[in-house]
Amino acid sequence: MKTKKVVVGVTGGIAAYKAAELVRLLVKEGISVKVAMTQNACRFVTPLTFEALSGRRVIYEMFGPEGTVMEHIRWGQDSDLIVIAPATANFIAKMAHGIADDFLSTCVIAATAKILVCPSMNDCMFKNPVVQENLRMLRQREWTVLEPGEGGLACGTEGPGRLPEPAHILEQVRTLLAAHDLAGIKILVSAGPTLEPIDPVRYITNRSSGKMGYALARAAVRRGGEVVLVSGPTALAPPPGVVFFPVRTAEEMRRCVFENRAGCDIVIKAAAVSDYRPKECVGQKVKKGAESISLQLVKNPDILASLGETKAQAPCILVGFAAETEDLLANAQKKLRAKNLDMIVANDVSRNDAGFETDTNLVRLVFRDGRVEDAPMMTKDEVADLVLDRARELREAWLGRSGGH
Ligand code: CTP
Repeated sequence: MKTKKVVVGVTGGIAAYKAAELVRLLVKEGISVKVAMTQNACRFVTPLTFEALSGRRVIYEMFGPEGTVMEHIRWGQDSDLIVIAPATANFIAKMAHGIADDFLSTCVIAATAKILVCPSMNDCMFKNPVVQENLRMLRQREWTVLEPGEGGLACGTEGPGRLPEPAHILEQVRTLLAAHDLAGIKILVSAGPTLEPIDPVRYITNRSSGKMGYALARAAVRRGGEVVLVSGPTALAPPPGVVFFPVRTAEEMRRCVFENRAGCDIVIKAAAVSDYRPKECVGQKVKKGAESISLQLVKNPDILASLGETKAQAPCILVGFAAETEDLLANAQKKLRAKNLDMIVANDVSRNDAGFETDTNLVRLVFRDGRVEDAPMMTKDEVADLVLDRARELREAWLGRSGGH
């Protein structure tokens, strides 16, 4: 994202204040952001707010001070994407009908960049057939139009019309800016912990938050992949665009993974599967009694090892994760060989800044041919992109060797 340029166009609706958060998120992503505002938008939020957040001059007048000459042409042609957020009914109508009577509308009409429109208005306005027709016209031009959120609106009514959350708009921006290098590729990701019941109220689980697996699924969708996400219980919402299968136990996860593996080009097992489960799950709550009790555990199926064993039946690039607290490299290499993997992502889960529950990860990628790649400390989103880059390269090399079959 570091080389990408985005123009944020703010028009005159109450949700203009949310555009400030959007600009902050885009800048945090490393994107170079310029902001253009309509005159009405300046009544809701001052240009100074956006100037401070973007670190750049904000344009809100067509015939402003010296130096703005031709900016209305250049901005939409130098950038990768224009995001109109919020997009009012009036501004949507102007874009649909080619009216260029201020800086932002002229910039849009001269643009060669992709355009993302984020409508926000009163629900009756949004449902008005004129607005819907205008939005249809924009979609026909292959512009991306986000559906507004539903709920309480500033005008006191309820319905569709809320500006989508800035984090959701950011995800769309990432998708539009990403190289679609996984188009046509089917990827299965498993994520999260498994949960092994002891009785109706107790279970055994582990500290996996699912963040790494969900980051992989999100990045793969963004890059155009067809993604199946099989996940144990987590607090995360499944990324939009994935085919989602929630599961609980290791056995359910095994069944679901095997039912969905056919036709997958890449399978990534980021789940923290419980190695053992209680021998039996008793039907009633276990009552307090003896001073000590013991729980007998039996081994769960090793899903990844079974996938590796039967790889010839469903050829794919098979990627595992190794959660280690000691001898990271040696243990990861052992697992790679034992489970017949193409790559294993090893991480030290004893650190505070990597592994379970964190937003960052420090990983070593270990390959079948003995190569080891040490990645620097990265966010889980960045690790996801790196893992997908390498998995895609392995797939291409494999296709090259097998003559495309
Ligand atoms: N895995 C699996 N099924 C299991 C256990 C692990 O599919 N029953 C997968 C995990 O999803 C991960 C890889 O195997 O991709 C390695 O998991 P990890 O917990 O690091 O290792 P284990 O094989 O369980 O070995 P150990 O717990 O002894 O380190």
